[in-house]
Amino acid sequence: MRILLVGSGGREHALAWKLAQGTPPPTLFIAPGNPGTAAYGTNVDLSAHDIAGLCAFAEDHAIELVVVGPERPLVEGLADQMEARGIPVIGPSAQAAQLEGSKAFAKSFMARHHIPTADYRTFTAAQFEEARAHLHALGAPVVVKASGLAAGKGAVVCASLEEAEATLAEMLQDRRFGVASDEVVIEAFMEGEEASVFVLAHGASYVLLATAQDHKRIGEGDTGPNTGGMGAYAPAPIMTPALLAQTRQEIIEPTLQGMVAEKIPYKGFLYVGLMITAAGPKVVEYNCRMGDPETQVVMPLLQENLLDVFTALVENRLGDVSLAPAERAAACVVLASKGYPGAYPKGFSIHGVSEAAEAADVLVFQAGTRQSDEGVLETSGGRVLGVTATAEDLQDALDRAYAAVDQICFEGMQYRRDIGQKGLQRLAEGEH
Ligand code: GLY
Repeated sequence: MRILLVGSGGREHALAWKLAQGTPPPTLFIAPGNPGTAAYGTNVDLSAHDIAGLCAFAEDHAIELVVVGPERPLVEGLADQMEARGIPVIGPSAQAAQLEGSKAFAKSFMARHHIPTADYRTFTAAQFEEARAHLHALGAPVVVKASGLAAGKGAVVCASLEEAEATLAEMLQDRRFGVASDEVVIEAFMEGEEASVFVLAHGASYVLLATAQDHKRIGEGDTGPNTGGMGAYAPAPIMTPALLAQTRQEIIEPTLQGMVAEKIPYKGFLYVGLMITAAGPKVVEYNCRMGDPETQVVMPLLQENLLDVFTALVENRLGDVSLAPAERAAACVVLASKGYPGAYPKGFSIHGVSEAAEAADVLVFQAGTRQSDEGVLETSGGRVLGVTATAEDLQDALDRAYAAVDQICFEGMQYRRDIGQKGLQRLAEGEH
């Protein structure tokens, strides 16, 4: 099968790696890909946002399936455009992608379908004073979110009312995220621990992938600014079978059935960010894609051939598929450039990737990398590599991942040394 995979991050490297395990392996094109994805197919010099270019490429190269990594092309209609040309896509229509593309849509959808989430109200710039009054009525901590896509920076948990007011002004008055923050959502703060569930859906049919936990802050002990994710592990011990059953019943099934009822059936990966509160699981956010770096831990645990699962989805046979629960654990440590998530320099040589990847059960997924004219692998992004290991248990997976990290270096390399600690703590508590 001829597949076009769209995107260039660690998530896409992990999807390419997993697709390449198929028998026979598909013919893979990755747009634009990175030096890591080139090991599994042909990188194509097209941006993930060039919808017209991607469609023309797919037609010219007889592509039979398109797999979309990032959210923006989906929100902008890539799946609709491909499907209008008769090319099946793993990814939702623009309307269904509003679950991520418009926080205001997602919140009103959850209210209509009685899906547990934080109480909220939405405001525009014309309602600035009303929004301020609402912040004061709620008190801190409080959450202020840009409704539209803001590259992972649009949701701010404000510890004080001063911070909340400043955030509100930045979004509504200074238009920090352009049109994406012309409408904001103010949400009650939810107390609890976050976890992520990943669904592959077609209408109301779905399969559940391994659960995971991300590490959003740059600093150890969850300190400092938010990032795209500094590491992940799977499965998440907090998601017990009982909690998972409750999440299916109260969140996943009403979401998929609600989308069918609203005539915008969902197709593709759906990533549901949860807060596990004392009152049960509640939705923090929906994403219309897989997580990054969560894909780097979820894919290595998937025992089935990913292409078979995709084919079943496209043929509307997902109801016949059952995925075996993860039997191992996976951990991913993200190696980032100095300065990330702020500005960072690029172009430093990366050493030790092949040596690190020689260890058993270690995978080094590339993200912000490029090949110099001399063929040297060098840094070209904020998150550079996702060093992943699988093992019988989480501790072993973490040990192997960190041993692999020790073999890699580039100037200014930074990473968190506490990936997985929450999971280990929960496992230890379970033993007592
Ligand atoms: N790691 C968080 C995300 O992919 O949105």
